[in-house]
Amino acid sequence: MRLATVLFACAATVAQADHRLTDRDIEAGAALYAETCASCHGADLEGQPDWRTPGEDGILPAPPHDVSGHTWHHDTPLLLEYTLKGGQATLESRGVTGFKSGMPAFEKTLTEDEVLDILAFIRSTWPERAQEVQSQRTHAAD
Ligand code: HEC
Repeated sequence: MRLATVLFACAATVAQADHRLTDRDIEAGAALYAETCASCHGADLEGQPDWRTPGEDGILPAPPHDVSGHTWHHDTPLLLEYTLKGGQATLESRGVTGFKSGMPAFEKTLTEDEVLDILAFIRSTWPERAQEVQSQRTHAAD
């Protein structure tokens, strides 16, 4: 009985941590992705060629959001902040200065709910194992 209670409590916590990217409007997210992100991150989330090598201006090309990229390595609060505030501000708030980010801020054009729909769409394209890892990262960061 006790063990069952503990397990239930754990399950409830995990469900809560996952909550922000589940039960979202994946179709709306896909449409918003096509409109606002695909120009850089690719129509099939494939990113730009040689995305690990900075260009002459020192700015990195846009990375893929499919499972070959590193989006699934990051917790939801970080992904949300990176999209709303842009790369520069997000990294500076974590003490990383002198990095020229090519990722614009979308807080003036997209709401938090819209970005969560986009992230849920991106997440829905990953294999289940990567989705689980991303949930665990999010849970650990909570
Ligand atoms: C003008 C090109 C451009 C557009 C448009 C753009 N990005 Fe990015 N994005 C980048 C670049 C370049 C990076 C690489 C990191 C950096 O330079 O900060 C990046 C990095 C990211 C990252 C962090 C890396 C990762 O894989 O976790 C996230 C999250 C992200 N973008 C989400 C989005 C979302 C969501 C949209 C649409 C709302 C979007 N981006 C639109 C250029 C863009």
